[in-house]
Amino acid sequence: MSGSKHRLVQFTDPHIGGRPDYHLLGLDTGRTLADVLRAIERDEAAAELLMVTGDISANGAEAAYERFLRKMRDITVPWYWLPGNHDRAERMYEVAPANTAELVALGNWRLLLLDTSVEGEICGGLTSAQLDRFEELLRECRHHPVMVLMHHQPVPVGSKWIDGHMLKGGAGRLLQLVSAAGNVKALVWGHVHQQFDGELAGIGLHATPSTSVQFTPGSGPFSVDDKLPGYRWFDLHDDGTYATGVERVPVSDYSVDLSSSGY
Ligand SMILES: [Fe+2]
Repeated sequence: MSGSKHRLVQFTDPHIGGRPDYHLLGLDTGRTLADVLRAIERDEAAAELLMVTGDISANGAEAAYERFLRKMRDITVPWYWLPGNHDRAERMYEVAPANTAELVALGNWRLLLLDTSVEGEICGGLTSAQLDRFEELLRECRHHPVMVLMHHQPVPVGSKWIDGHMLKGGAGRLLQLVSAAGNVKALVWGHVHQQFDGELAGIGLHATPSTSVQFTPGSGPFSVDDKLPGYRWFDLHDDGTYATGVERVPVSDYSVDLSSSGY
C-alpha cells in the first residue's frame, strides 16, 4: 500500500415510505435510516463520498424520495444513488438529477454505477445497450482501479430465496467484461440485506447490510434476521488496493417481525 487513501461509505436498501408512519415488517425504516446516517456523520468524518445502492424507497413514490432527501440534508459530502427493484429510476432522476451518475472519480479510483432495475421485476437485468456503454466506460477507465456498484447481486450469495432474485439478464457478459478488464478491483451491491464478502478471480465481492430490515445469511426460504442495520466503509488506496468493513448501529429498541414469511 502506498500513497493516499480515500474513504467511501456505502449504505443501501433504506426502503423509505412516503409517510412518516410507514413500517416494513414492523420496523420504522425512517428511524433506522436516521440512526445509520447519524452514525455515519459521527464516525465517518473522513468520508469523501457516499453511495446508496438502491431500494431507496418502499414503493417508488415521489413522497418517499422527498422524504429521503430531507433525511440527507445534513450530509455535506457528495453522494450518489442508483435504483433497486423497489424504485422508479426516472422518478429518482426527476427529484435529484445531480445525485445520479454513471461514473464518479475518487482519487485515482473510478466508480461505475449500474442501473440493474427492471420495471415490474424483482430480479435484476442489464440490456445490451447498457453493457455496451459499460464496456466503453471501462475502456475510458483502463488506467485506473475500478469499483462497480449496482443493486442486484451478480453472483449468488448462498441464500436460496434471494438468489432467485439476483441479476439475471446480462450477468454473464458483465462478469466477462469485468474479468477481462484486469483493473476492476471490486463489485459492490445491496439487495440481499446482509453482509457478504467474497472474491472472484481476484475481484472483491461485497454486499452490505440494509439500513432497515436484515435477511438471514444462508437461508433457504425467506427469513428475517435480528441483526442490526448498518453500512460499509472502503478505504481506497491510490495503488488500487483497498480495505473494507461493515459497521452496525446500536438501536436499543430495534423491533422487527422475525416471523414474517415475505415482504
Ligand atoms: Fe431491498
